[in-house]
Amino acid sequence: MINLIKTGQHDQLEIEKKANSLQGKISIPGDKSISHRALMLGAIASGETVIEGLLLGEDPRSTAKCFQAMGAQISELNSEKVILRGIGQKTLQEPLNILDAGNSGTTMRLMLGLLASQPDKFFIVTGDDSLRSRPMARVINPLQQMGALIYGRNNHKNAPLAVMGQNLKPIHYHSPVASAQVKSCILLAGLMTEGKTTVTEPALSRDHSERMLQAFGATLEINPDTHSVTIEGKIELHGQTVIVPGDISSAAFWLVAGAITPNSDLTIENVGINPTRTGILEALMMMGAEITLENERETAGEPVADLRVKSSKLKACTIEGAIIPRLIDEIPILAVAACFAEGTTIIKDAEELRVKESDRLTVMATELNKMGANITELPDGLEITGGVTLKGSEMDSYTDHRIAMSLAIAGLNAEGKTVINRAEAASISYPTFVDTLISLTNHR
Ligand code: S3P
Repeated sequence: MINLIKTGQHDQLEIEKKANSLQGKISIPGDKSISHRALMLGAIASGETVIEGLLLGEDPRSTAKCFQAMGAQISELNSEKVILRGIGQKTLQEPLNILDAGNSGTTMRLMLGLLASQPDKFFIVTGDDSLRSRPMARVINPLQQMGALIYGRNNHKNAPLAVMGQNLKPIHYHSPVASAQVKSCILLAGLMTEGKTTVTEPALSRDHSERMLQAFGATLEINPDTHSVTIEGKIELHGQTVIVPGDISSAAFWLVAGAITPNSDLTIENVGINPTRTGILEALMMMGAEITLENERETAGEPVADLRVKSSKLKACTIEGAIIPRLIDEIPILAVAACFAEGTTIIKDAEELRVKESDRLTVMATELNKMGANITELPDGLEITGGVTLKGSEMDSYTDHRIAMSLAIAGLNAEGKTVINRAEAASISYPTFVDTLISLTNHR
């Protein structure tokens, strides 16, 4: 029995007891990264953009509101089919008020590249408590090298940020972090800037921006060997039809749920399997998860498949190095899988998790240990010894969507009752998560 209880502004998710099987076919909402990019590129392109399968979560809504405030016409986000009338390059309007990116790092960081490069326009950008504590210097520093004027709290490291738009100059930026948000911010600033702007990253991060920019008519040179991308500036984008595949980061909850719940056979339909995002499949398969890819196809420039998972006997593994950016958002749910694997799983090189919507290393270790897990926090990862029986307990999402959903899957496989406070956080990236959880478990 699953109950969602409203307590004031918050939701409490109660999972009464262990699931004994997960069966059937499910679909998942649209990819968050692709949804943000479709809204942003559609907003700055000339003409009409049609987005099919848009994620109707809180994060893309933040992006849509910001760009509406700067002149883009976007149909109401009440259907997964959204129509945009873009404003055309160089003409973002000065908003009448502060731009609110809510909980969304992608909105704030990518948008900053566009704002900083609008000459003579003034913008103030803020976000919720979590976003205002997240590091913005990683995009402000390279933008300043391009000539941007950006001011903020904590010596210009945190939002609220004030931006006085400028004509920027192109640079070659060597990013110290493998971050698609940093890469995409610089590419968007480069698109608005005369000349060629290049970003080189230490390992390959998700490449949705590169794919979609090219589809909208931008000129890019991509060197996969050096992890470098160059964009030519001042090329006008033209509206497109974007078909957003299901989010593999959302599918990951069900992949792990299917693998660790006995007697399970689940198919997750229409999942994006862009190789820069499939680290989770490789990691779970390395752990012995029985996952098969069915009906592989390509939809609007992104590879897609149905993913079938069956109950599996998992074993521990080590996850480190170049795979980390390819499964960065799935580490919380991988930590849950590791609790059900034989042996000690080590996750390293994942210090980036400390600056996500919450400190996901501390939060996952703390909350899963409350359930009786055996997790030691490392400076840059987690050491998880599996094979212990998890016990239901009362936990908190820390308002982080991926924490809320990861703990729910742990609760689904724990002895006794699990309670997750502030579970409404799931709606940031997966507004129908609880509905799917209920539909998969209510036949017993
Ligand atoms: C995202 C990139 C990743 C990821 C985030 C979405 C994107 O962040 O964690 O959820 O859409 O570009 P970083 O680029 O900061 O690693």
